[in-house]
Amino acid sequence: MQFPKNFYFGAATAAHQVEGGNRNDWTEWEKTNAQRLAAEAEPKFKHVAVWDDVKIQAQDPENYISGKATNHYHRFEEDFDIAARLGHNAHRFSIEWARVEPEEGKFDEREIAHYQNVIMALRERKIEPFVTLWHFTLPQWFSKMGGFLHPDASRLFARYCAHVVSALGGMARFFFTMNEPEIYASNAYWKGVWPPQKKGLGAYLRVNKALMRAHNAAYAVIKKSIPSCTVGIVKDNIHFQGLLAPLARWWWNHRFLQKTRFDCIGLNYYFGGCDTKQKSDMDWSVCPEGIYRVLQELHRYTKPVYITENGVADMRDAMRADFIKNHVEQTAKAIRAGVDVRGYFYWSLLDNFEWDKGFWPRFGLVEIDYKTFERKIRPSAWEYARLIKDSRQ
Ligand code: BGC
Repeated sequence: MQFPKNFYFGAATAAHQVEGGNRNDWTEWEKTNAQRLAAEAEPKFKHVAVWDDVKIQAQDPENYISGKATNHYHRFEEDFDIAARLGHNAHRFSIEWARVEPEEGKFDEREIAHYQNVIMALRERKIEPFVTLWHFTLPQWFSKMGGFLHPDASRLFARYCAHVVSALGGMARFFFTMNEPEIYASNAYWKGVWPPQKKGLGAYLRVNKALMRAHNAAYAVIKKSIPSCTVGIVKDNIHFQGLLAPLARWWWNHRFLQKTRFDCIGLNYYFGGCDTKQKSDMDWSVCPEGIYRVLQELHRYTKPVYITENGVADMRDAMRADFIKNHVEQTAKAIRAGVDVRGYFYWSLLDNFEWDKGFWPRFGLVEIDYKTFERKIRPSAWEYARLIKDSRQ
């Protein structure tokens, strides 16, 4: 497989899923919903292939409390040592807004210093930092005022982004304003499965628009303060098939990109409409050709593309190595076809807190023992390391 010189290979995480000790809209929601989620687990997940192995955990309310998560907040150096041993030359992580701005307009400089240390730890290991400014969780003060539906939301979001980038912009070059706006809008305002659990077309459409406005406002202030940094948006795009595919593609894959400004695109790709029998532990169909198709769809924007997430829940580590190899192969094919892809980040470096499903899905290159916080590198992580090494020869 041929990759451009300086191609980035690494893995991704998100603050709330790995850090531990957070206080935000999710931690509140977890407290009031853990019992319910545990009670609903059986009817919801009984069909997944690993149900017998995970049912005790999935039916335990503790599974749905992020708590200490992987304790990455205190163990990031150890985790980056692992990433470096595995040959990663880039790492994507997110800033926890609620830590940095715990009260409206009051910024906690100690937390900013923490993220400066995170970036320094990456740089010391020759790992390029890719910073996501918002990955789904909100400070409580912001969610209480209505979150992104508040009329002043984009100004407040842009102010937070500007504050972070002015402190970190000298140390990192790549910033993404937000992660997967479509997933956030649909889970939180349409399906009602994430906080604030709204289920209505009106609010769903309004929040979609509000996220575009917030991104554009953040893009403008960041570029004004540090014109040299690269500011992108992370999109979750799907390989749609069937009669309604063109409509779905427009609404889900393209609309946000058509209405916003950005210097690069982050692509998160998990599944597509392939005719395949291979399913992850979460019952998502594995479809490597789909990543080639969605990459091709991004060609029209003539901007660099980074695959900011691609991964599989696979507790037995039986399919992860092939999953990575096959998706990376399809990425190489897209590059040969002319798409300007510049990086690939596996999701995730560590097992982590999978939102309303809690801790049972296992996405990590590194297995976490949630009782001892011991890290164990999975065999597939070494296979990925070999692939990275071979691609550099
Ligand atoms: C999100 C991650 C999540 C992953 C797997 C993406 O939608 O960005 O936070 O863990 O998918 O579900």
